[in-house]
Amino acid sequence: MAKKRILSGMQPSGLLHLGNYYGALKNWIELQEQFECFYFIADWHSLTTLYEDPSQIKRFSFEVAVDWLAAGLDPEKSTLFVQSRIPEHAELHLILSMVVPVPWLERNPTYKEKQVEVKSVDMSSYGFLGYPVLQTSDIVLYDADYVPVGIDQAPHLEISREIVRRFNGFYKKKVFKEPQAKISEIPKLNGVDGRKMSKSYNNAIYLSDTEKQITKKVKSMLTDPARGLRTDPGDPDVCNLFPFHKLYSPLEMQKEIDRDCRTAAIGCGDCKLKLVDTMLEGLRPHMERRQEIIAKPREVEEILEEGTRKAQAVAKSTMDRAKQAMKF
Ligand code: TRP
Ligand code: SF4
Repeated sequence: MAKKRILSGMQPSGLLHLGNYYGALKNWIELQEQFECFYFIADWHSLTTLYEDPSQIKRFSFEVAVDWLAAGLDPEKSTLFVQSRIPEHAELHLILSMVVPVPWLERNPTYKEKQVEVKSVDMSSYGFLGYPVLQTSDIVLYDADYVPVGIDQAPHLEISREIVRRFNGFYKKKVFKEPQAKISEIPKLNGVDGRKMSKSYNNAIYLSDTEKQITKKVKSMLTDPARGLRTDPGDPDVCNLFPFHKLYSPLEMQKEIDRDCRTAAIGCGDCKLKLVDTMLEGLRPHMERRQEIIAKPREVEEILEEGTRKAQAVAKSTMDRAKQAMKF
């Protein structure tokens, strides 16, 4: 039986941080073993926020690709490509935009939230309203069965499914496949200040950070805010740092810290030093692979070119099928 197909994308709107790794990339890497995977850099999508100054998108796209490869996305197993190099994404976006009622998009919770949340850019653009339409093109061009995304993207996937049903209904053919969201369990991991890890909050630990930067960030981390004095007992369950121990420190150490924190036998300073050690040890292989890969930018480019070639062949045949169904 043919493998089911997975497709997902990531916006190159910044460097990848640990939130991106645990929230998506780690899962993508695991999915490679079981599925036929297409992963792409959604550079057109990142224009929805960076349109005033898109000059960094190219660099971020490269850096994202480097982190993908260093973390374990394998071009032998997955097709890795760049959205904007495949014009079919834009072409299908246009056609779908004729079919999608605007109220479907205005109802999208992400669209409404960002109008209020984002202060630095005007998010009332036509393109941002159509974000889920472009995302639908991304997905259906590859007949994806499953789309691994965070829970925040679930409404987008619902819109995609509705668009597919509407399109197939008009042209009386099963032209596109209805994609299913694949929502994964994500460990709770906030930024150094305790808020959601995000580049815009300036609280992220990046996969491209140096040992020195990581050390400095860990030392600056918010811990249990109720622990004002060294002699006050703490609570690892509410501490912002402890989830990192859960990811990087051996179980024995976790148990020890959990016990000693509650009796104030260990101070936050020492707890942080322990984390610096285990975290650097955990991240070192990534750092080293990153250095090797970044030294050969030509090879990264070739991987993306090869992936783009493969992806475009699929996209083109889907596009032909769509036009035929429309008799257009
Ligand atoms: N919206 C996704 C995000 O920001 C990125 C994305 C664009 C995507 N197109 C996609 C994800 C298609 C899955 C499938 O995380
Ligand atoms: Fe958090 Fe460690 Fe301080 Fe306890 S000792 S509050 S787990 S940093």
